[in-house]
Parts: sequence; C-alpha cells; structure tokens
Amino acid sequence: MLAYPVSVPLPSADKRWKLVEATIRRHGHKGTALIEVLHTVQESFGFLDEVSLRFVATSLRLPLSKVYGVATFYHYFTLKPPGEHTCVVCMGTGCYVKGAGDLLRTIEETAHIKPGETTPDGKISVVAARCIGACSLAPALVFDGEVQSKADSDAIRREFRRWMGHAA
Ligand code: FES
Repeated sequence: MLAYPVSVPLPSADKRWKLVEATIRRHGHKGTALIEVLHTVQESFGFLDEVSLRFVATSLRLPLSKVYGVATFYHYFTLKPPGEHTCVVCMGTGCYVKGAGDLLRTIEETAHIKPGETTPDGKISVVAARCIGACSLAPALVFDGEVQSKADSDAIRREFRRWMGHAA
C-alpha cells in the first residue's frame, strides 16, 4: 500500500516556505522532484542552507546526503552565502515594478557588492531571489531572515550601517 504523503511542518512562518511546500505537493512528495524543489527554494530564498536542505530531504523522504549531493553538484545551486549577514532582494515582477532595481543600486553604493557577492570583510552577502511570496508588501527584502515590507533605500542604509558596525 502506498503511504499517503504526510506534510512536514514548515521550518518557520516565513511565507516563502509555502511556495516550497506548494512545489512539493504539486509533485506528490516524490523524490524525483528534488531538483525542481531545490530550484524553488533557491528562487525563494536566494540560496540553500542546512535548514532548507533538511526540510526538502524530509518532505521528499530522501536521505540528507543525497540532497546535499545534488545541491553541491550543480553549479547553479548556491549554498548559504558566507557573509555574517544576508540581504535577499526580491527581483520578482511585483517587486521589480515597485523599485527593486533602485534597492540594488543603493546596496551597491552602500556596500559595493552585487547579488551573489560578499563584502571583503565577510560581513554582508547579497543575493537576488525571484518572488518570495510577499508581493503585497513589494518591494520586499529579507534582512537575516526578517522580511521587510515596502523596503526603501533608507532601510538598507540603516541596516547595512548597523551590520558594518557603524552608527546608523
Ligand atoms: S515579486 Fe517580490 S514578493 Fe512577489
């Protein structure tokens, strides 16, 4: 008898997990959907980390080693960026039309890095993601896991200064 796919509790209340869960459901929790699901995680979060890899492994009932194997084999998957702090910029259509491009410019002016890069002192990594499931809050950013709604350049400058150890 086939076991009915059981949903695994989401790692947090972050709405992006709902997108990942939807992909897992669409594929009937099948292990063959691994690459597709990892893509969704990366498009939503900008990278793969231990929490997401464990969640995917449990949800698809695959050994964690296999999930790590696939995540590290394909160059288009990025494991958690090395920076102490992470800023994810949503570049989905909803955020783009609300000025996500300006936010990227502010990031470049403030920290001199582009998506996919980390500051030389290892303090901040910036990653671009596709829709993170918060379109009504566009443009959306995520500072160290905290979604920022209707983000603006001031919010970036403030947070980055704090991360860089300067007064706001
Ligand atoms: S497009 Fe940015 S949250 Fe949907």
